[in-house]
Amino acid sequence: MKEKIVEFLKKSADNYLSGEEISEHLDISRAGIWKHMEDLRAEGYTIEAVPHLGYKLISFPDKLLPSEIQFHLNTKIIGKKIIQKENVTSTMDVAFEFGTKGEGEGLVVCAETQTKGRGRLGRSWNSPKGKGIYFSLLLRPRLSPMEVSKITLLSAVSLTNALKKITNLEYSIKWPNDILIHGKKVAGILTELSAEADQVKFIVLGVGLNVNTSKDLLPPAATSLFAETKKIFNRVDILKEILRELEKSYLFFQKEGFASIAEEWRESSSTLHKRIKVVDQSGTLEGEAVDIDSDGGLLIRKDNGVIVKKMAGDVVPAR
Ligand code: BTN
Repeated sequence: MKEKIVEFLKKSADNYLSGEEISEHLDISRAGIWKHMEDLRAEGYTIEAVPHLGYKLISFPDKLLPSEIQFHLNTKIIGKKIIQKENVTSTMDVAFEFGTKGEGEGLVVCAETQTKGRGRLGRSWNSPKGKGIYFSLLLRPRLSPMEVSKITLLSAVSLTNALKKITNLEYSIKWPNDILIHGKKVAGILTELSAEADQVKFIVLGVGLNVNTSKDLLPPAATSLFAETKKIFNRVDILKEILRELEKSYLFFQKEGFASIAEEWRESSSTLHKRIKVVDQSGTLEGEAVDIDSDGGLLIRKDNGVIVKKMAGDVVPAR
């Protein structure tokens, strides 16, 4: 009901809505309205109440609230259910638990901060409170575990497309899924899965995006939208755009396959056609990054002409 009240207040924009109008429209008692208004104020909404005129929404909280994210989101699967937490160890843990319990795909778990935010290759993800977007998405694609990289690259393409709609900055993707601005990392994606030998049960896709984070809260090789533009962004608007783009690519991928998503990835890549080193547990491999293959693996041509495929690792420029 709170969500409906907010929606109704938003629709009336600058006009006051009388208690009577709200009561009739939403079939709720005046006492009920009063109670919900108090709850909304406690959540950070500023709602003016003027005797004889009614209620007016002045401002909404700078929080990733489900009601705000779902307002005009217009997706079919992704974000139909959203869980927002103030503080979690990692949104990955929460989403994974829901996945294990059988939750349907599309669940989004977001948090204002994480105490143990994690990144790829055992790294941590810095999650200053209220500054970035930290969320995990539960998906149940019909894929073999070998094909999961496709979803990872798909999400990097979606994230880049969403960001291009929000700012005029230039973004590039460093294999497999770091989003960079002028060579500095603004966002990262982590994919974790639960699978049987030949079938994925579910994937948890974690996205961390530095939005309004000031430079002093960022690692040296990272940046944020704020650091690049000196503007403060509405995180809800950005998250909505990301969820829409993720759904668009995900549905397209299920219908049409990976080829054109791979093409989009290539167009945004800062890795391909460069001399690079890939560092992983097995050591360092140097050569030219020539392409990604149909599974999303990186193909590297060594100096002896042999082409090697890598499915994971860290890309660093070679001299
Ligand atoms: C990387 O670049 O290494 C991936 C970073 C992924 C960070 C996000 S923040 C939301 C979700 N929860 C986590 O603990 N990690 C991901």
